[in-house]
Amino acid sequence: MQNITVIGGGTMGNGIAHVFAQNGYQVTLVDVVSAVLDKALATIGKNLDRQIAKGALAEADKAAILQRIHPMTDLKEGVANADLVVEAATENISLKLKIFSDMDQLAPARAVLATNTSSISITKIAAATQRPDKVIGMHFMNPVPVMKLIEVIRGYATTDEVTNQIMGLSRRLGKEPVEVNDYPGFVANRILLPMINEAIYTLYEGVSGVQEIDTVMKLGMAHPMGPLQLADFIGLDVCLAILRVLQEGFGNPKYAPCPLLVNMVTAGKLGVKSGEGFYTYTPGSKDMMVAARFR
Ligand code: NAI
Repeated sequence: MQNITVIGGGTMGNGIAHVFAQNGYQVTLVDVVSAVLDKALATIGKNLDRQIAKGALAEADKAAILQRIHPMTDLKEGVANADLVVEAATENISLKLKIFSDMDQLAPARAVLATNTSSISITKIAAATQRPDKVIGMHFMNPVPVMKLIEVIRGYATTDEVTNQIMGLSRRLGKEPVEVNDYPGFVANRILLPMINEAIYTLYEGVSGVQEIDTVMKLGMAHPMGPLQLADFIGLDVCLAILRVLQEGFGNPKYAPCPLLVNMVTAGKLGVKSGEGFYTYTPGSKDMMVAARFR
């Protein structure tokens, strides 16, 4: 596998393109919005500068890495020569089914089609193609250049051969892949989201305050960030959507989202991206304060 196509140049797509290009792969980066591609290349440039400043990358390598990334807005041209496609477009099921059915027509028969989805069934995505044996989940973590883990998710029809190929490739990127099966939330979100939901219930029931709950988990469990702050970073709308996937997928009430989370999302309090969640955020600065409602 030498030619990699990444679909979507947003938060995850630019990081995925960065990591492949840094490890010597030719990367075609496709997004429907050309301004996103400009921004993605600028972000990758800035993140490479950060690695250079830390001594993790030689200055001389930066230009070669950037030259290996070829931005494009046309899907047909973008996947024409792909050995592997990693789809990191917006988390929307009908959009992903359309992209996979189109890619199945346009990409070479040998190409493996991977998705970075955090919550959609790999088996469902695979069923939109004529090659479900070559469809797999490759769930990178944010920020991609920094985080070591890749959850490699086998759909119902994914073969051992394709799984082994993707496990090996992930290791060549300097990552630690973990093989998991395709059930709601996979492993990472199945464990993380109930923890976040329980933290929100703990607040909702008045057991303790925002900062106190986060402090218990930071200092008591050595988590780098408390669950409420982490929820703000992930986006409260994204947290709610993943809990709904768990609740529906397992039919088990233990995954029911806390009513406080539902109310906050309805009120447009989505965390960092809206400026307020459990904390309020000052744009362009690292300052944050517990939101007035919880003080
Ligand atoms: P984002 O909103 O930052 O980027 C998505 C990009 O996809 C946008 O630039 C959009 O223009 C593009 N796009 C939409 N339709 C397209 C199409 N038909 N063809 C090409 N590009 C298209 O989203 P983000 O956060 O990067 O998420 C992408 C995927 O990664 C989602 O499936 C999400 O669940 C998953 N993910 C996100 C994580 C995160 O922390 N943000 C963590 C792990 C997975």
